[in-house]
Amino acid sequence: MKQQRILLIIGGGIAAYKCLDLVRRLREQGMSVRAVMTRAAAEFVTPLSVAALTNERVFTDLFDLNDEHEIGHIRLSREADLLIVAPATADLLAKMAGGHADDLASTLLLATDKPVLVAPAMNPRMWLHPATRRNAAQLKADGIRFVGPNAGEMAEPGEAGPGRLAEVPEIIAAAKRILAENRAEGSVAALPTGAPLAGRHVLVTSGPTHEPIDPVRFIANRSSGKQGHAVAEAAARFGARVTLVTGPVATADPAGVDVVRVETAEEMLRAVRENLPADIAVFAAAVADWRAADAPREKIKKSGGKRALELVENPDILAAVAKSGSHRPALVIGFAAETGDVVAYGTKKRKAKGADWIVANDVSPGTGVLGGDRNTVHLVTGSGVEDWPPMSKEDVALRLMLHAAGELRRNTAAAE
Ligand code: C5P
Repeated sequence: MKQQRILLIIGGGIAAYKCLDLVRRLREQGMSVRAVMTRAAAEFVTPLSVAALTNERVFTDLFDLNDEHEIGHIRLSREADLLIVAPATADLLAKMAGGHADDLASTLLLATDKPVLVAPAMNPRMWLHPATRRNAAQLKADGIRFVGPNAGEMAEPGEAGPGRLAEVPEIIAAAKRILAENRAEGSVAALPTGAPLAGRHVLVTSGPTHEPIDPVRFIANRSSGKQGHAVAEAAARFGARVTLVTGPVATADPAGVDVVRVETAEEMLRAVRENLPADIAVFAAAVADWRAADAPREKIKKSGGKRALELVENPDILAAVAKSGSHRPALVIGFAAETGDVVAYGTKKRKAKGADWIVANDVSPGTGVLGGDRNTVHLVTGSGVEDWPPMSKEDVALRLMLHAAGELRRNTAAAE
């Protein structure tokens, strides 16, 4: 197997000395390590010791013309399989989140097309500051992976809390996971940069629905909306006009997408109908199967003892659209979240609901899929089942939209 190449960006902080051990351990794993140090990092460890351990020259500043001459900064990041930022200081995270490029480290991070793993380390108050929270959330939304920080004693006496650099074995485990994903999937960077869905309208449902019991209580479920929102984002990235009909979620609105917010299944069905026609409809919402038969306008009071709640079934939005006549999208895709026999249930659901494809996945508690960032799915189509390797929800979405674009292209070609 090809040797994996790490570009290690060392930020300035007391934890920087741990990078020496990190380099040693990464190399023990058979990886090659090239290091870039920020100006502040060089105050904590010497470039000479880093160079001795990496057995490579160490790059220290963008404006070192010799380095620039010998190896362009873009090449430096492109020649790696993974960038690791450790320790990632509050300042470095802020620069990354803001897209700054005023030194070699930040320039490389902005120029790279490779996965980036950051291991933050800073004073707990800095980590918990709203500015750092905002920057970390932005970076996560941008696809940057995090390991740590861990909670515990800090180097400064009397300071404790989240902010310690993750332990070296944790950083290595996170790096290996990302490298393994890349090998399994082919990097997302290898996806087409063109617009295979240009001129198409993609309608996506996402999130849970909330079904009121009375004005203050409702029935809900654990759907985070991450997978549905990722599908909407992927469709937009491939050039589609996208309408995202979403139940109440904390997940941020994807960029470049029209968002329609609803609460209940009935509102979701109405919003979906109002936004048809579409070329592709993806039903990723976890629609509540039932709603309260009647939700009084006043808060229900305790009356002692048992109380029955009568439920009636909600409309099936996917089935309603898949079986509709004139406005049926060319490609109707449903999700089947199950806790066992996922492919069998998915196959049954495809037929019963009239969908073209079903993305079947296991959401048993142990899988961490509900609310989590990763998913293992099986694509059930009319011609069989494709088992996809475990991957991020973003990559499931990109693959699905790529398949969908191919299917529409084939349909159009067949019709001509
Ligand atoms: O909940 P169930 O497993 O039946 O969901 C399968 C598919 O049907 C999902 O794509 C879901 O979004 C869709 N669905 C729907 N309306 C419902 C129930 C499910 O659109 N009332």
